[in-house]
Amino acid sequence: MKTQNKTIVLVGFMGVGKTTIGKKVAKALDLTFNDSDKLVEEKVGLTVKEIFDVHGEIYFRGLEEAMILSCLSEDQPQVLALGGGAFINDRIREVCIEKGDAIFLKISWEEWKKRADDLRPTRPLLQKNSEDEIHTLFEARQQLYSQAPTTIVTDNLTIEEIVEAIQQR
Ligand code: S3P
Repeated sequence: MKTQNKTIVLVGFMGVGKTTIGKKVAKALDLTFNDSDKLVEEKVGLTVKEIFDVHGEIYFRGLEEAMILSCLSEDQPQVLALGGGAFINDRIREVCIEKGDAIFLKISWEEWKKRADDLRPTRPLLQKNSEDEIHTLFEARQQLYSQAPTTIVTDNLTIEEIVEAIQQR
């Protein structure tokens, strides 16, 4: 097996499975797993939804950037799942592409819509925006996510197949 010497950064829209997949990849490669949402939640002692409600999105984005840049500055490679909006930030995108192995987990809008109801309770952006607005956000982000050097189209793959594809690449 090839040695993994860069942090694997999983990128993509909310609900594509970055956390679930990231944990499995980390286990298979014997690497530490981190999730940017979780790191922010632990730092503040509130859930992402509570942070948006109490402090606002700008506050959340500042901490999100700090946590991600801190992970990427560590010598030890790890698997890092990014929150769906993180890769939109130019600095985060640059550092993740330069210092990490950024992988875009791509899902079609049709497939994503099937998951939307399950995601809504924990995703503040889905509560604040209409379906049309979310669709616009989804489309606008594709072009930025696509800057990751690797893209895996997840629509017809099982979680195990996606984990395997990440290990094989
Ligand atoms: C967000 C995605 C969420 C979380 C926050 C904002 C976004 O993470 O960071 O609700 O802007 O797309 P997941 O991608 O893990 O759902």
